[in-house]
Amino acid sequence: RKEGFDHFMLKEIFEQPRVVKDTLTPRLPLDVNDIVLDDINMSKEVLEKINKIYIVACGTASYTGLVGKYLIERVARIPVVAEVASEFRYREPILDENTLMIVVSQSGETADTLAALRLAKKAGAYVIGIVNAVGSTISRDADDVLYTLAGPEIAVASTKAYSAQLCAMYLLSIKIAMELGKISKDEFLELREELYELPDKVGTVLEQADTIKELADKYINSKNVFYIGRGLDYAVSMEGALKLKEIAYLHAEPYAAGELKHGPIALIEDNSLLVGLTGHEELFEKTVSNIKEVKARGAKVLAIALEGNDEIGKIADDVIYVPRTHWMFTSLLENIPQQIFAYYISVGLGNDVDKPRNLAKSVTVE
Ligand code: F6R
Repeated sequence: RKEGFDHFMLKEIFEQPRVVKDTLTPRLPLDVNDIVLDDINMSKEVLEKINKIYIVACGTASYTGLVGKYLIERVARIPVVAEVASEFRYREPILDENTLMIVVSQSGETADTLAALRLAKKAGAYVIGIVNAVGSTISRDADDVLYTLAGPEIAVASTKAYSAQLCAMYLLSIKIAMELGKISKDEFLELREELYELPDKVGTVLEQADTIKELADKYINSKNVFYIGRGLDYAVSMEGALKLKEIAYLHAEPYAAGELKHGPIALIEDNSLLVGLTGHEELFEKTVSNIKEVKARGAKVLAIALEGNDEIGKIADDVIYVPRTHWMFTSLLENIPQQIFAYYISVGLGNDVDKPRNLAKSVTVE
């Protein structure tokens, strides 16, 4: 069932062009100038009264939430709090019928996420679930569901499900903004064209797997790995660091690039590795100045950058380039090299890639 791949994780990484296509294109029919979300029944009237959004989830799914926060706030102009479910549920959050909660879950069974959902429903909030497992508890208990069509994910570390969650979040953010008149039809058509190109662009990143394997071999002995970025790249850095921790068992930390100098830079030594995410090009110069500070203190720098950005090649030790797309969608493409990098480090260290120690696929205990 691994279809010739050494591990389920690698198979699932390589399934991503199809998963991205399956999650996006049925919702973007070319004969309608709109996003069609069959299972979302929230009326325009309810949406117009929403004055606050919580995106609640655990682990990797919570990083989809952070991406969602950046996107929804920027394009729909509604305040969004993205939070892990295990904190949210215990802090007496302020919820009412003008609150929208978006829960994100691959399994649809995560105990803390489910508890957060129930809290929101009890307070009269509207709940939309972004869920992979059809018929799961969260999919049944949410008011509406937006299914990610990733298919079953066998490897414990989430890869294709996360990419599908990002796609669902892109659709939902754009849909909300359109309903509120914040994105015009013309802008939508531009975005739709970009979305249609994403599966092939994911394929282009996958073609670099052998090169990324060489980089994994080069950096396999790194002691501390820092993932940094700003804005959407900061959200991407969180997923990169988690993947390295859970399957490679390397100490990895994500930081907002601007925070480094407020403490963590003291940890930088000769054998540190910095993964610098630079796809958020509006803030490129700022992130580059943070990268330079770290490099000057002895760390090696592996950058993930957008194709055609020659500047970064002069600063970083190595660069992995990903295709350009609309700024809203760079997170998906930038994350794929992080998955492959973590995978090959894990393989190189002889770890049990598909079943990392101490972890379970579905966390149904609190
Ligand atoms: C990491 C990973 C976990 C899950 C988390 C939430 O690779 O898989 O962090 O993302 O346990 O699980 P779901 O999405 O099933 O609610």
